[in-house]
Amino acid sequence: MQAPIYLALDFPTGEEALQFLARHELTGVPVKVGMELFYREGVSIIHQLKENDHPIFLDLKLHDIPNTVKSAMRNLAVLGADIVNVHALGGLKMIEAAKEGLSQGTSSKIPKLIAVTMLTSMDEHTVQSDLKQPMELAAYALHLAELSQKAGADGVVCSPHEAASIKAACGADFLTVTPGIRLAGSAKNDQHRIATPADARKMQADYLVIGRSVTAAADPKQAYERVIEEWKNYDNYN
Ligand code: C5P
Repeated sequence: MQAPIYLALDFPTGEEALQFLARHELTGVPVKVGMELFYREGVSIIHQLKENDHPIFLDLKLHDIPNTVKSAMRNLAVLGADIVNVHALGGLKMIEAAKEGLSQGTSSKIPKLIAVTMLTSMDEHTVQSDLKQPMELAAYALHLAELSQKAGADGVVCSPHEAASIKAACGADFLTVTPGIRLAGSAKNDQHRIATPADARKMQADYLVIGRSVTAAADPKQAYERVIEEWKNYDNYN
């Protein structure tokens, strides 16, 4: 079975993304398509990636009124992505509507619905000063995870540091998808709450999302393999 390590295809064009995958022999690995690529290429990039057998996490982070999200999810469901997502901050009704839209859109393989708790680029200070959210970040992320579960989501996107408490509250089957992954020695960039692949697994992440630690590495294939090695043999890493 493939390791659940989704490579974030944050490239300006589909051509660059596909060339990168081919050049570094990463054809067929699980990939995450986000706003940058999807807004440029639309559904054609999803079709091309599927033709090359990539499992797909379509990371569009929907956040709108429930009816609009339901209709959008109905359309996204037919694309054949394995995972789609919404912002948990859209609230209970919106997440329920997303789930309903997905099951209306396809009867074959319904994509997993994942809700984003707090972006991993957010730190305590930003949440309190910009968003005026008085709760502690970890407690607030946990609250959003419980809300998402109540609304029928299959799991959440969260910081690796929040995964264990979310599992404890929501159960082992509730999925934790964690960005903010950095190989030792990689630049932190704009992420704040980061972890290595081995640490993320120890902290009970189910799926990893990793971008620049691989795409900006001198040898991306070797970097991706290192992520898999750490994921599989996490006990060997401190
Ligand atoms: O390059 P890096 O590994 O930081 O990329 C992380 C990817 O995960 C980006 O595509 C980003 O949009 C996405 N993401 C995130 N934090 C979330 C949800 C998604 O960083 N909470």
